[in-house]
Amino acid sequence: MSAQKIDGKAFAADLRGRVSEAVKALPAQPSLAVVLVGDDPASHVYVRNKIKFTGETGMRSIERRLPATVSEDELVDVVRALNDDDAVNGILVQLPLPKGLNSDRVIAQIHPDKDVDGLTEASAGRLLLGKSGLRPCTPTGCVMLAKDALGDLTGKNCVILGRSILVGKPAALLFLEQNCTVTIAHSRTQNLEDVCRSADILVPAVGRPEMVKSGWIKPGACVIDVGINRVPSIKRPGKFRLVGDVAYREAVSIAGSITPVPGGVGPMTIACLLRNTVLAACLQNGWAVPDIIAGL
Ligand code: GUN
Repeated sequence: MSAQKIDGKAFAADLRGRVSEAVKALPAQPSLAVVLVGDDPASHVYVRNKIKFTGETGMRSIERRLPATVSEDELVDVVRALNDDDAVNGILVQLPLPKGLNSDRVIAQIHPDKDVDGLTEASAGRLLLGKSGLRPCTPTGCVMLAKDALGDLTGKNCVILGRSILVGKPAALLFLEQNCTVTIAHSRTQNLEDVCRSADILVPAVGRPEMVKSGWIKPGACVIDVGINRVPSIKRPGKFRLVGDVAYREAVSIAGSITPVPGGVGPMTIACLLRNTVLAACLQNGWAVPDIIAGL
């Protein structure tokens, strides 16, 4: 038996379509401000895609491109000006920032109601306390894909592998919100393989290429692979290929459903960012969230 492939690319395209529908139903056009500092090539690619999809879903994007030499105080001022600008609904500061700039201090400036990345302390606190707010994008995408594969997640044993602030911890809280029994496993966990094999939903998010082998997976489990790792290609010397944290080829014969890499969790991040931009606009203006994007 081969696992059902969870098509994150198709799901993300569908979500972007629903975001477009939601945008059309709003009284005014939401806007997303993207702050890009320096010239990291990967960040430029990410930002280009974010801007492209913002336009494609009918929203306005505002760009603030700053040189790597910008001072931290100047960057803080840029973020504060975006906070104060009523024409801006969402603010995203592309990470990582160039060396010498303290990303914690910069992110902390973002008003929580505009924090479409869900990265501020206030957003994290709202998530922990179960209050409404903007949730981090990649973990939200993980829950959406698991629900797409399994339906209601109530009572499922969910094991998150990894305790990062960006993915592991918020993912644990979001799966808890779905009434899962959640375990956070990490590098110090005893009997790590056994713990992973207890999962109905396994969410590896550690950034270690193909670390999770088929023996770590409960037969029939849903595997949501967050890892995106560049490894040297054997077939094409000098080139790279992308692999997840799961050894996909062997896992696919054990799991019940599994996300591929690429084309699984990756495309969900931007789609959830766009959804968050609409949610932010609704929050700020007191508009009802259109049903088509309201639930996960
Ligand atoms: N860099 C890589 N991924 C992300 C993301 O989701 N948000 C931000 N702000 N920076 C990133």
